[in-house]
Amino acid sequence: MSTTQPPGSAHAHDELPSSTVTLIVNDQPRSARCPDRTLLVELIRDELGLFGTHAGCLNGDCGACTVNVDGRITKSCLVLAPAAEGTTITTVEGLGEPGALHPVQEAFWEKDGFQCGFCLPGQLFATIDLLDHEDAPSDDDIRGALAGNICRCTGYQKIIDSVRCAAERTARTPD
Ligand code: FES
Ligand code: FES
Repeated sequence: MSTTQPPGSAHAHDELPSSTVTLIVNDQPRSARCPDRTLLVELIRDELGLFGTHAGCLNGDCGACTVNVDGRITKSCLVLAPAAEGTTITTVEGLGEPGALHPVQEAFWEKDGFQCGFCLPGQLFATIDLLDHEDAPSDDDIRGALAGNICRCTGYQKIIDSVRCAAERTARTPD
């Protein structure tokens, strides 16, 4: 009888080259062991249990998987998990303060900038990044900053209204 394991079996999975990835996520030290081919979005969701980061297209188009890695907004489906070793990551769960939304989250809430919320991580991180560089963005600035984020249900005008509102809120919020 053959002892060869079919692809995808638990035994075959165990034999995949694997690494332990250690990183800081939302100010907490975290680590997980995973196959080297694991995507960062899969590590965040499946190993760390942070389901606010969404897995959509998995090819860099939709933005639903966006997180901040070492200060840069990053589509986590485009990064292998082992490449994130030693990084500091903020996910959507890490925005704001405990018990309080980030001003950009408040603005999206106030202006109905989302419906299902699937695209929201990307919209929020792109907005925060834009407002870090531009206090009073024009509509063209906003459209350019959000271009890598696809929303299938809200309509982009409400998202632009939310970013404008966020600009006003962050201008009023001291560092
Ligand atoms: S899931 Fe990463 S960009 Fe769509
Ligand atoms: S709110 Fe549903 S995809 Fe944007």
